[in-house]
Amino acid sequence: MVARPHLAIVIDRMTVDDLGAVQEIEGESFTTPWPPHAYRSELETNRLAHYIVARYNDRLVGFAGMWLMVDEAHITTFAVRKTWRRQGVGERLLLALLDLAQARGAREATLEVRPSNHPARRLYEKYGFALVGVRRRYYSDDNEDALILTTDTLDGRAMRDRIAALRAAVARRQDVEIGSDGLPVGRPDEAEEGSEGGRAIAPDILRPSGVRRQS
Ligand SMILES: CC(C)(COP(=O)(O)OP(=O)(O)OC[C@H]1O[C@@H](n2cnc3c(N)ncnc32)[C@H](O)[C@@H]1OP(=O)(O)O)[C@@H](O)C(=O)NCCC(=O)NCCS
Repeated sequence: MVARPHLAIVIDRMTVDDLGAVQEIEGESFTTPWPPHAYRSELETNRLAHYIVARYNDRLVGFAGMWLMVDEAHITTFAVRKTWRRQGVGERLLLALLDLAQARGAREATLEVRPSNHPARRLYEKYGFALVGVRRRYYSDDNEDALILTTDTLDGRAMRDRIAALRAAVARRQDVEIGSDGLPVGRPDEAEEGSEGGRAIAPDILRPSGVRRQS
């Protein structure tokens, strides 16, 4: 067994070469995966879109994306490979998105999440996202509502202090134990992972008006 520091996880821009691995993670993370062309179209044609990946060595272990629209960062998708969950990869991705959003002048970050998606909700709450509205029957597979969560002002004191403290905690995290199968050791059972994800619906359906907040 080998202990690898968290720094072994590298955050990088998503490219079309990543799309096979992204689709694998989509399939294990969402009841209604985005269709294969959705990410390609986001990368190739949507100037508002910013997609990132987390890699461990050459293996893609998670990804996330957002649209930067004037002063709002709208997180469109976010997932970590099942075998890599609860190792801080989600936090690394979220920190990278929020850093980029703040650097590009976004005032706040917003997203949709299923009420039943407890892991994601816990993560977002930890990072200061709060409930601002509900989109009724948003998810077409089961008509579940979507919660709309938004941060405080990204460059406000409260959010900056929160992010700084969380960034420091991520940096202090214990090393990841990697087993002979190349996967983290002691990861939780899949059963502990909670519900299937649910984020924004696919971009070609969403764009451009579907991301407006409903009060
Ligand atoms: C949500 C998701 C991205 C989290 O990724 P992750 O790498 O496992 O998250 P992290 O290890 O960085 O965990 C960070 C925090 O998230 C919360 N969290 C993550 N998984 C959790 C779980 N199973 N139960 C409770 N809280 C959880 C905790 O607050 C955790 O902080 P802690 O370690 O101090 O308790 C991952 O569960 C996932 O891919 N889910 C399926 C797709 C999905 O739902 N995407 C979100 C769509 S809106």
